[in-house]
Amino acid sequence: MIVPPRDQCSYLTGLLNHLSSEAVPGSLPVGRNNPQRVPFGLYAEQLSGTAFTAPRAENRRSWLYRLRPTASHARFKPYPRATLMRSGPFEEVPPSPNRMRWNPLPIPVEPTDFVDGITTYCGNGDAGTGSGIGVHLYALNRPMHDRAFQNADGELLLVPQQGSLRLTTEFGLMDVSPLQIALIPRGVRFRVDPADGTARGYFCENYGAPFRLPDLGPIGSNGLASARDFETPVAWFVDRDTGCEVIQKFQGGLWSTQLDHSPFDVVAWHGNLAPCRYDLRRFNTINTVSFDHPDPSIFTVLTSPSDTPGTANCDFVIFPPRWMVAEDTFRPPWFHRNVMSEFMGLISGVYDAKAGGFAPGGASLHNQMSGHGPDRASYEAAVAVDLKPHKIEDTMAFMFESRHVLRSTRWAGDTPLLQHDYDDCWNDFIKAQVPSL
Ligand SMILES: [Fe+2]
Repeated sequence: MIVPPRDQCSYLTGLLNHLSSEAVPGSLPVGRNNPQRVPFGLYAEQLSGTAFTAPRAENRRSWLYRLRPTASHARFKPYPRATLMRSGPFEEVPPSPNRMRWNPLPIPVEPTDFVDGITTYCGNGDAGTGSGIGVHLYALNRPMHDRAFQNADGELLLVPQQGSLRLTTEFGLMDVSPLQIALIPRGVRFRVDPADGTARGYFCENYGAPFRLPDLGPIGSNGLASARDFETPVAWFVDRDTGCEVIQKFQGGLWSTQLDHSPFDVVAWHGNLAPCRYDLRRFNTINTVSFDHPDPSIFTVLTSPSDTPGTANCDFVIFPPRWMVAEDTFRPPWFHRNVMSEFMGLISGVYDAKAGGFAPGGASLHNQMSGHGPDRASYEAAVAVDLKPHKIEDTMAFMFESRHVLRSTRWAGDTPLLQHDYDDCWNDFIKAQVPSL
């Protein structure tokens, strides 16, 4: 197959609708999923993202028609290289109530691809019981070449921060750049290649229920992220009988097997379980037009629900460019303690609650019930400013917010990237003066 130039891949639109795509005319069976003989001798294979019996509104599955069945592979063996990827349960070090912030993760010097360039910062829950998340950054300086990755432990939400990526997936090709995100369902094989030599970004590994759009409640039938703006690649395949290493994450461990053919050999597919991308600049941001900033849940792009209504396994929340018009309101995010735990990253620009120290590619962690909020410089500027309509132009921060404490890894506590003076940004607030009675 011809490889399309960057940014010229083709996409189908919508989120969780039932899509169909065939790279070769006539390769997709019509009217049935599993005919006695599939066109061209292709192998029919179902990929189940939910239990067969999941309610229709929750049920996710796709049918893939490929050159060889996925089952054709040798035994997986433990992946021989040491990596900084960790998995739930996160028990390397005791959980700390301290607020943490890290300088940007450097691009590696040694040749490093996506798999070897993963560094885990924190996480919660357990891949084995299907709840919680892993929070990782990737930093890479080379393509994966003849390697592919699949994650049996969870769905991946990729948040590129620096450098565009070409994602080769079993479902097709997808280009993703900073200010876009990509969702890769659990188990789908993919390859990550940097478009410009190097790349860095964040990703959430979701052990729990798959991400979906949040309910809108009184907002109505429109607003926030729109299903029509999610884009899924059209079928595209590799017909090449050369070797490819498949690296699989399974119950926290990395495993490897060698194929004698490309895993990207799906000629046609249909269903509602497929990778997709979304451009964060299409987010319809909603905020107050009177006073008092709503809770930041108003900026939720995607949510992974838990079994407790309204209490997410993970919310993916962004802080995009937006107009600030509230009157008699402290406009930055307010001081706050939260039963939910918050991991933040910065894709570009400046975050409005932090005048310094929170750089693109950096990260912060404010766990359950830890006090946080604007630093002193941001606070003093916000209470002194003349409140005119103001547009925050250059910013795109995000948050993975989770119901359970995010337990940091040993690396995250030991790395020199950790800012040991982070607490100081909340020092020296001037004491309020209350009249004595
Ligand atoms: Fe917060």
